[in-house]
Amino acid sequence: MLSRLSRCLASSSRVAQRRLISTTPRRRSDALFVHRDTPYNNPKIPFEFSPENMKRADDIIARYPSQYKKAAVIPLLDLAQRQNKGWTSISVMNYVAKLLEMPPMRVYEVATFYTMFNREPIGKNFVQVCTTTPCMLRGSTEILNTVCQELGGITPGQTTKDGKFTVIEVECQGACSNAPMMVIGDDFYEDLTPETTKKVLSAFTKGEKPKPGPQSGRHTSENSAGFTALTSKPYGPGEFCSPEFQ
Ligand code: FES
Repeated sequence: MLSRLSRCLASSSRVAQRRLISTTPRRRSDALFVHRDTPYNNPKIPFEFSPENMKRADDIIARYPSQYKKAAVIPLLDLAQRQNKGWTSISVMNYVAKLLEMPPMRVYEVATFYTMFNREPIGKNFVQVCTTTPCMLRGSTEILNTVCQELGGITPGQTTKDGKFTVIEVECQGACSNAPMMVIGDDFYEDLTPETTKKVLSAFTKGEKPKPGPQSGRHTSENSAGFTALTSKPYGPGEFCSPEFQ
């Protein structure tokens, strides 16, 4: 009897110890962290700043003590990326490394760490759709799907065949109070709906530049339900007592 009880206890403790592990599907990053030479991206392709950008680069470098000029690596990579049609090639990184007298590997580390450096060519209009939680809760999945459909069925990470658009998903852009939002070039398009998203993209397709900011009629991030506080003129200095006390 006793042995049956102990067998039973042992088997129930085995059951209790078994834990179910749930997993989500593995999602691979769309960024490649190694460089492989290609005909369009190899160290033999020359790159150097234009005279105007060289002047800008000198101004940026002059902001830092001469022994710390490598601190200018991010603004210089950004400047070089802008000159290089929006992407940071191996030649761009090597050039910045030479200019700042730093080992190329240190520059590669920066360019692969910060996602704003594109290490593959991008389209003329770079569309970044935010899909982090606040945007997701306000419909960013629908916005991303609308963008992809409007651009001929491409998927995030791809460029349209005509080279006009590249779309990617990005993390929070700091405009959560105007979620959902997307960035095109350097501008934010906020408070998006599928309809306003289509309008913005159609303007870019025609070569126009729609007005950035909230597309809902809001001016910035004010309460869309109107004022709920400070609805009357605030009292001025010395007016804080009711008349009967004066
Ligand atoms: S979550 Fe999209 S801007 Fe912050």
